[in-house]
Amino acid sequence: MDCPTYHIPVMLNECMEGLDIKPDGIYADLTYGGGGHSREIIKRLGKGGHLYGFDQDNDAKDGATDDERFTFVHSNFRFVANWMQYYKVDGVDGILADLGVSSHHLDDGERGFSFRYDAPLDMRMNRRSLTTAHDIVMDYPEGRLADIMFMYGELKQSRRIAAEIARHRKQKDIKTTGQLADIVVPLLGREREKKDLARIFQALRIEVNGEMKALEEMLDAATSVLKKNGRLAVITYHSLEDRIVKNHIRYSGAENGNDNREAWIFGNPTSALKDISKGVIVPSDEEIRNNPRSRSAKLRIAEKR
Ligand SMILES: C[S@@+](CC[C@H](N)C(=O)[O-])C[C@H]1O[C@@H](n2cnc3c(N)ncnc32)[C@H](O)[C@@H]1O
Repeated sequence: MDCPTYHIPVMLNECMEGLDIKPDGIYADLTYGGGGHSREIIKRLGKGGHLYGFDQDNDAKDGATDDERFTFVHSNFRFVANWMQYYKVDGVDGILADLGVSSHHLDDGERGFSFRYDAPLDMRMNRRSLTTAHDIVMDYPEGRLADIMFMYGELKQSRRIAAEIARHRKQKDIKTTGQLADIVVPLLGREREKKDLARIFQALRIEVNGEMKALEEMLDAATSVLKKNGRLAVITYHSLEDRIVKNHIRYSGAENGNDNREAWIFGNPTSALKDISKGVIVPSDEEIRNNPRSRSAKLRIAEKR
């Protein structure tokens, strides 16, 4: 089923070019979302090809294609190697990951990802996981809250934000996105109010979903299941994510998953991956105009040695 309102795919042509789809190849789209990238991959597959589409949010499954060359996997992408073993796949020709949340998440007023709607402070992509944004806002020590705001939201006023949340939560339960926004807005400058609110919400979302740890584990697992000359394409939306991907491409260990950083420092750069995008690819001005969400996107493409 086509579902254009779920999410507009970012850097679609660049991803397809980078993945260089073989008609009889085996592919994994680790972030199915609205299936925009997946549908383009399937178009390029012949009868013998197959695509595994992962998403930890079951909502993505509702709109998923029923093409016989496609299998939906409701799972965190950190388990990609286990799933490939389960499906008896020996090696994968290409893997795509388009990180973060979809427009569907941000537009769903119930799930608490956006300050545009007053909703319970939830933010879980996988509704079976245990920790919500409410738990973090109410229970995390003030110092840890500040660290999250600083690391994942890149907010200069992280300490003040954490202190204000800690002060309010002593008096009442901060249950909704609207209550949280009311507490932090007075600390934000008028011009940057929306941007900084978005960063506060982003920081909480990254923590709720353990996104950085999942990304690191996924990169190791994905590298281990790629065939020789198999391609890895990753789109990031945050500088920390991009750094993790960049470093993984430079230093990732060989087949056994060893960290190769030492060998690299001592002049033996034998990463399991070769950077074939020669650094980072960014969306065209036209794409940013048509899809403002793509503004912060960065794509890196690597090939397995
Ligand atoms: C940016 S959207 C992908 C959009 C998709 N490329 C498209 O064109 O429609 C990211 C999707 O990945 C999922 N996701 C994020 N982190 C995940 C993880 N660790 N494991 C599995 N799915 C994840 C989210 O639930 C969301 O649906």
